[in-house]
Order: sequence, then C-alpha cells, then structure tokens
Amino acid sequence: MPETRSVHLPVLYFGTPVALITTVNPDGTSNISPISSAWSLGSRYMLGLGSGGQALANLRRVPDLVVNLPSSDLVSSVEAIAPTTGRFPVPADKHPAYRHEADKWTLGGLTPVASERVAADRVDECPVQIEARAVQIIDIDGGDAVAVEAEVLQVHAHETILRDDHSDRVDTERWRPLYYSFRHYFAQGAHVGANFRAPLLDEDARV
Ligand SMILES: Cc1cc2nc3c(=O)[nH]c(=O)nc-3n(C[C@H](O)[C@H](O)[C@H](O)COP(=O)(O)O)c2cc1C
Repeated sequence: MPETRSVHLPVLYFGTPVALITTVNPDGTSNISPISSAWSLGSRYMLGLGSGGQALANLRRVPDLVVNLPSSDLVSSVEAIAPTTGRFPVPADKHPAYRHEADKWTLGGLTPVASERVAADRVDECPVQIEARAVQIIDIDGGDAVAVEAEVLQVHAHETILRDDHSDRVDTERWRPLYYSFRHYFAQGAHVGANFRAPLLDEDARV
C-alpha cells in the first residue's frame, strides 16, 4: 500500500452526476441551476444548494422543481450557463465570479418543455427529467447551504436510452451521463463489472 498523509483538500467532489435543477422564477419562467450535490434514495431526491442562489430563493416560494440529468455531450451547454445566476442583483458572495442571467435557456441552447405534475419546466435535451417537489429544506453549514428533500412525482426518459425489452430500465450502453469531479467534467468510463442484482446482459460482466 502507498503511504498516506493528512491533507486539507479544498474540494471533496470526487465525482457525481451533473444535474440541471429547474425551479419557478417570480415571473413564471423557469430558472436552470447546474448542481452536482444530488442523490436519490427511494422516493426522494436530495439536493445540496448554496443559500445565495436563485434555486433556493425560488424553492422557498414555489416548491416545484425538476432534476434534469444531461448527457456528456451537453457539457458546452452546462458550462455556458455555469458562470451565471438567476439572482438579481448578484449577491455579494457570488460576486465577481458570477453574473446575472435572466434567460439561461437561450444562453445554453436549451429548450423548456412543460412538466406534467409541477410548475417548473423540464429541459427537453436532458435524457432523464425527474419532476419533484421540495418537502423539507434543512439549513446546514451554519446556514451557508441547505439540504433539500424532494419527493419524486414523475420521471421522464428519452426512448433512446431505454432497453428494448420495455422494462422501463435505462440501458447503460446507451447513455453517457455527465459527471463532475474536482471542477472537471467527465463522461462515464469503462464498464468494470455488474452488481449481483443487475439484470444480466452478459454473464461475463459478473465480477
Ligand atoms: C457542474 C457544476 C456543479 C455545481 N454544483 C453545485 C451544487 O451541488 N450546489 C450548489 O448550490 N451549486 C453548485 N454549483 C454552482 C451553481 O451552479 C451556481 O451557484 C449558480 O449560480 C446557481 O444558479 P442560480 O443562482 O441561478 O440558482 C455547481 C456548478 C456547476 C457548473
């Protein structure tokens, strides 16, 4: 084993999917917030949000949201909207890194499509769109951030990423989600094995 030492890593983002969170602006349009602090557990989706962003301001007014999961080929759209915030004026803790942008859709070349169960629009280009509603917002880190517990209401998936057997499962060979690791973007790497509960595609995939 290599030697280890105690370190102070400035970022502990080892790699999580990028999610584009859409929320409802005061004028009824939808804001898009790129995040990667997002994970699913049963019927819930948990989001980590900075307290100074438009996403949280919107959710405190209207709890509706969509978790839109982009493919790796949408990286340019994500990075185009990355230095922006829907907040106006830009809060002090986001200045000067971020500028205000009221229409992130045009900036990112993204298309809004109406949701079925929530007021926030979905991002048409994202192969997975999860309609959800915030049921609990918990202050963390002394109030600098919040953890949002969202109830999943409806999930949409592009036909092109689903298995042919109509089993309502994603075909992992057909989708390359976008991942964020230490402020860099990655596509999915090589397939290195299958969990014992994975539907069998190829017996050789067993570890
Ligand atoms: C790939 C990526 C991942 C990010 N992850 C998070 C995150 O998990 N939580 C968060 O609050 N902000 C995250 N950010 C920063 C927000 O996108 C940024 O604060 C943005 O201004 C939010 O937009 P809004 O103020 O319009 O909501 C991330 C940004 C990028 C580009």
